[in-house]
Amino acid sequence: MAPDSKIERPSNVPAARVIDFDLYNPPGVAHGFHEAWQKLHAPDVPDLVWTPHNGGHWLATSGRMIAEVFADYERFSCRVMLVPKAVGEQHQMLPVVLDPPAHRPYRLLLNTSLAPKTVNGMERTIRRLAGALVEHVRATGQCDFTKEYAEILPVQIFMEMVNLPQTDVAKIKVWTDQIVHPDGSMSYHDAKQHLYDYLEPHIDARFGGDDEDVLSRIINGKVNGRELSKSEMLSLCMQMLLGGLDTVVNFLGFVLLFLARNPEHRRELIAEPALVPNAVQELLRRFPVVSLAREVRNDIEYDGVQLRQGDMVAIPTPLVGTDEQLNADALTVNFRRSSFEHATFGNGPHLCPGAHLARTEIRITIEEWLKRIPEFAIAPGAEIRFRGGLVGVVDGLPLVWEVATTQAGIAE
Ligand code: HEM
Repeated sequence: MAPDSKIERPSNVPAARVIDFDLYNPPGVAHGFHEAWQKLHAPDVPDLVWTPHNGGHWLATSGRMIAEVFADYERFSCRVMLVPKAVGEQHQMLPVVLDPPAHRPYRLLLNTSLAPKTVNGMERTIRRLAGALVEHVRATGQCDFTKEYAEILPVQIFMEMVNLPQTDVAKIKVWTDQIVHPDGSMSYHDAKQHLYDYLEPHIDARFGGDDEDVLSRIINGKVNGRELSKSEMLSLCMQMLLGGLDTVVNFLGFVLLFLARNPEHRRELIAEPALVPNAVQELLRRFPVVSLAREVRNDIEYDGVQLRQGDMVAIPTPLVGTDEQLNADALTVNFRRSSFEHATFGNGPHLCPGAHLARTEIRITIEEWLKRIPEFAIAPGAEIRFRGGLVGVVDGLPLVWEVATTQAGIAE
């Protein structure tokens, strides 16, 4: 359970805008992550509401407003970009807490490392690992998808890109989990310190070298013509770990859950594999997982209410692509949809630099899985449970299939 801190309604918040909503634990989340968020799209919920949970903050509920707050750094700063604000103030990671123009030079360092060209060069490695992971479980007729696939593929690929030892994954995951899904067993400060202590010797070893891995490129990069300080290096590298280790892992859980529950969608992709890239776009639109926030820069009137300097506004991406105002028939998954309005990867200057990598990993997962295991379902009797947080989670996904319906893959 996240450490919650409730406060009284401040005088600038109209009583009619107050709702009882804890984004780390949305009401009913255990039975459906997106369903729990979707309740905020009910017609009687205003576009901008205020909740006393997590230090008290505003919460944008309309897709259009969420996309606007993401992009409008002049009114909504990312100096603090998560709630509770007291925790967000400790999360001083680069480049996420910098607004333009200071953000730009740091961001360029990440863009080079995660450029589509670099990611495309990784495609064979990703496909080989994806194929091997599916092949490993195929003949057993069952698997825990989260443990045996989703927690392995993106993490191993990422560790390869940053050239950190695969054997360190388990310990890094404990610390990143405590930041993204805190359960109260470790403070934010301690989790961050563990990550810093872990990264520092790896940074020292790379500094001044000419290796091409993602961390080396960041560490040896320049900002406004100067070298980075040690604390800037640590901060940028830690944000890469946080951005890259958890998001794809969790999103893949939602993808396979959807395909397990919807055989006709699965069969559509098997009959027409060329549809897969469009299906990836559609699944990203329909099942976003990230919920962040912004800090109000100056006193302003917004959506008919007074926002005070320093107020926090939560901007949950699960409410963007699913908004009927932005996408017709928004809750229906249609692999043939031709336009996708969403903010699953954010919007504006901080738009996710890992989006191409994420899309590639999701596409290859669908292709390699369906090629070998076309018919599968959730294990009979299994109750699928979900958790909220900065990133939504499918808490375990036991899948089953008839081995006779599977197809051995061709090793690359
Ligand atoms: C499905 C997977 C992913 C989702 C849904 C996702 C979502 C997001 C979102 C919503 C933001 C915007 C943050 C903001 O505006 O405050 C973001 C930024 C970021 N993401 Fe991702 N991400 C994913 C995958 C990745 C991957 C694979 C990496 C790295 C390998 C990554 C690295 C980052 C970084 C470094 C930022 C900060 C960029 C900046 O501040 O300019 N993400 N991501």
